[in-house]
Amino acid sequence: MSDKQKATTDKLPQHIAIIMDGNGRWAQARGKKRVFGHKAGMERAREMAETCGELGVQYLTLFAFSSENWNRPPEEVSFLMDLFATSLKNESKKLNKNNVQLKVIGDKDGFDKGLRKAIDKAEALTADNDGLVLNIAANYGGRWDILQAGQKLINSGQEVTEDNLSKFLATGNAPEPDLLIRTGGEKRISNFLLWQAAYSELYFSDALWPDFDSEHLKLALADYAQRQRRFGKTGEQVTG
Ligand code: IPE
Ligand code: IPE
Ligand code: MG
Repeated sequence: MSDKQKATTDKLPQHIAIIMDGNGRWAQARGKKRVFGHKAGMERAREMAETCGELGVQYLTLFAFSSENWNRPPEEVSFLMDLFATSLKNESKKLNKNNVQLKVIGDKDGFDKGLRKAIDKAEALTADNDGLVLNIAANYGGRWDILQAGQKLINSGQEVTEDNLSKFLATGNAPEPDLLIRTGGEKRISNFLLWQAAYSELYFSDALWPDFDSEHLKLALADYAQRQRRFGKTGEQVTG
């Protein structure tokens, strides 16, 4: 194993979060409709979960549909909702077999009854698994998350502290992401994990999501392994 490869396995992020962007452009570049890219993107997401599980990553959070994505053309939104429901149905057995614990994070009240049922079923089936925790962020917005957590915190009567608020965030089942990847070339957060990404290492890839394979992931991991995470301290304090 080369030094670089060793560094990668030594310093593997516990939690990776990904903004899977670029599906539409990927399809359009092939003279196809945008939704064709979403289908390819879904397959890439499945592969990414498998690769992360194999590598020993413990938490993977994938941004699949944002609070703002409802503003897209109705045909695209409805295709994405159907794809989500079918994928949950088709993939959950395999995820279960691979010991993956699936969770959908986001405002589920925005989904129709059929989709909510498919989500509940997939979550229940995989609830006792202790392998990779796979969070699918759908109808998710970082602002929504902070508000809903704040509301729950107030209702609980607990003291208003950062730790107590964190417990009520949609990702309360996971530590904060160590590495946040965005594909598709844009350099923005687009209302993803606003609170949780306070100290995440950011990695931007120009690859469009359907092209982002395990080799691209390994490049991101190698880059991450070379970062020095200081959390406000000096470099000397960290290495000291
Ligand atoms: C990301 O790809 C998937 C979703 C937001 C659902 P896009 O659909 O945003 O693809 P581009 O950015 O238009 O290429
Ligand atoms: C972010 O991508 C949301 C997801 C990947 C699900 P968008 O394509 O919606 O982001 P903007 O609109 O370019 O910021
Ligand atoms: Mg996009």
